[in-house]
Amino acid sequence: MSADVGIVVTAAGSGSRLGYGVPKALVPLDPSGDIGGESSLFALALRHAQLVDGVRAIIVTAPSDELELFRSTIARLGIVVPVSVVSGGPTRQASIFQGLKALKQSGPLDVVLIHDAARALTPSVMMDRVVNAVAQGAPAVIPAIPVADTLKQIDPGIPPSPSGARRIVGNVDRGVMRIVQTPQGFAWDVAWDMHSTFAERGMDEAQAASDDSTMAQWAGHEVVAVEGDSLAVKVTTATDLALARVLFAQNFGSRS
Ligand code: CTP
Ligand code: MG
Repeated sequence: MSADVGIVVTAAGSGSRLGYGVPKALVPLDPSGDIGGESSLFALALRHAQLVDGVRAIIVTAPSDELELFRSTIARLGIVVPVSVVSGGPTRQASIFQGLKALKQSGPLDVVLIHDAARALTPSVMMDRVVNAVAQGAPAVIPAIPVADTLKQIDPGIPPSPSGARRIVGNVDRGVMRIVQTPQGFAWDVAWDMHSTFAERGMDEAQAASDDSTMAQWAGHEVVAVEGDSLAVKVTTATDLALARVLFAQNFGSRS
């Protein structure tokens, strides 16, 4: 019997680094698609999320002045799993807590996935891997990929030179490092307890956790990594968007 899974797709950010002029989750990967339409980041993330084995409910966190646009697009996607849209908070962490509160209304769940709409191309098979690891007993699971680039360490205490150069003070063994993606998966009680415990920190960007597994670590849980996916790229900058559009056209374009 498969685990009962709830998913929070977090899409309430502004996308300041992307600089597209609209909240990032509304940016279409089909360049001729509508803002907030069926190829927008949140809509694509939802299309994949609905295919997760055992999914019972999905909550989307959205910017508070865009709730209607999110809802009307979702209504057109033909998703059979119940999907609700709620307003996000001042940080990613706070937005996700709003999503968990809404998910709590949808009945008992075994596993919760927490996913960035910005990783819109993440395939559902990767999400299933995360769910399976939680269902088999891991309290906190992250998808992760090896590092391709050489890594060096700077000294944050030494300011950059006038030209912006930074002093290198060490090498990092990239073989033991991992790049972390989403969705991250948690036993329901673990996710609820850690988000409740650290909710106050989540109101302040400087103190908030940048990902959920950090909170699991703060709470003393073991975190394990499963294999991520090269399609789970995060759209942060205009360069990322260009890459995501190529990947979308190659992998998913015919579906839309
Ligand atoms: N997010 C959110 N609520 C916030 C901030 C971020 O739900 N208050 C979501 C974003 O919508 C995104 C994910 O968290 O799907 C990862 O955040 P990030 O890539 O940093 O997105 P933004 O915060 O929108 O971008 P930026 O930091 O460039 O403004
Ligand atoms: Mg951000």
